[in-house]
Amino acid sequence: MITVVGSGRVGATTAAMLGLMGLDKKIVLIDIIKGLPQGEALDLNHMSSILGLDVYYYGSNDYADMKGSDLVIVTAGLARKPGMTREQLLEQNANIVWSIGKDVAKHAPDSVVILTTNPLDAMVYVMWKATGFPRERIVGFSGVLDGGRLAFYTAQKLGVSPSAIIPVVLGQHGESMFPVPSRSYLYGIPLDKLLKPEDYKEVVDETVKAGARITELRGFSSNWAPGAGVALMAKAVKRDEKRALVASVVLRGEYGVDGLPVEVPLILGRGGAEKVLEIELSPDEKNKLAQSVEAIRKLINSLPNQYK
Ligand code: NAI
Repeated sequence: MITVVGSGRVGATTAAMLGLMGLDKKIVLIDIIKGLPQGEALDLNHMSSILGLDVYYYGSNDYADMKGSDLVIVTAGLARKPGMTREQLLEQNANIVWSIGKDVAKHAPDSVVILTTNPLDAMVYVMWKATGFPRERIVGFSGVLDGGRLAFYTAQKLGVSPSAIIPVVLGQHGESMFPVPSRSYLYGIPLDKLLKPEDYKEVVDETVKAGARITELRGFSSNWAPGAGVALMAKAVKRDEKRALVASVVLRGEYGVDGLPVEVPLILGRGGAEKVLEIELSPDEKNKLAQSVEAIRKLINSLPNQYK
């Protein structure tokens, strides 16, 4: 059984994709708004009926209904409005994620948690502290999204399919994220050998600003690409794929960081983030990653003490 906490745009989109990908027979949707998860579940059940999918959706306002879930996806919390940064969501979302974390520990103590709530890395930290789970079982979604965006903009510049590009974005999911051109490849060729420096700068700029751009254009933040990316991660966990992707996990000495969540390449499987992959970085790249890690540290330091 999979539970999706938060039945807003990202939660509902994710739930649809989980069903379409056939990842479980039962998907529970939980939200604090009365009627919302029940209404989404009903609509999704009608979708399954039309498409002949073997999945049943159940909507609830009771956290106890996540009991029996081996995967809990948390998309609950405030999202950015036009002009806002992810960091401005810190205090309110920390409160939400903390309380959900306590319920996850109580009702789904053996689950793997995939989290989207922003500011992402700080929320991974809060969820890790609230549940008391081993670090492997709290995985933050963002690297797949940032990487997908980097691949898209690069592909547009080069006139190739984005699927031919393996993107590597490290550090923070935010303004100081660090896309690494020397380690992102088009079929073995590093992007810094393919793109002129000014083109690469443009690609990175577009990647960093992509989320804000969508929010400015339509008045609410992205949901289709996040839903797809979270479902991809859910598949890696449910099918024990041991898939390599970039996600946020608390580091234990890797990249010289201890006790902070950072977007890094890792192997995702049944046990969660089963292994962190350490990429060799040049001194300049190490420096850029360190700056991004500092931004995460600063944000976590500014969390109220009860969440640390
Ligand atoms: P939304 O506003 O559409 O939905 C959020 C839902 O969470 C609402 O239905 C709300 O009632 C619910 N909620 C609030 N407190 C809750 C609680 N204690 N328990 C259960 N449900 C609760 O927002 P959207 O667009 O779905 O985004 C959700 C979160 O994901 C935001 O924090 C957003 O910034 C983040 N996000 C992160 C991305 C990433 O790459 N990591 C990408 C897109 C969104």
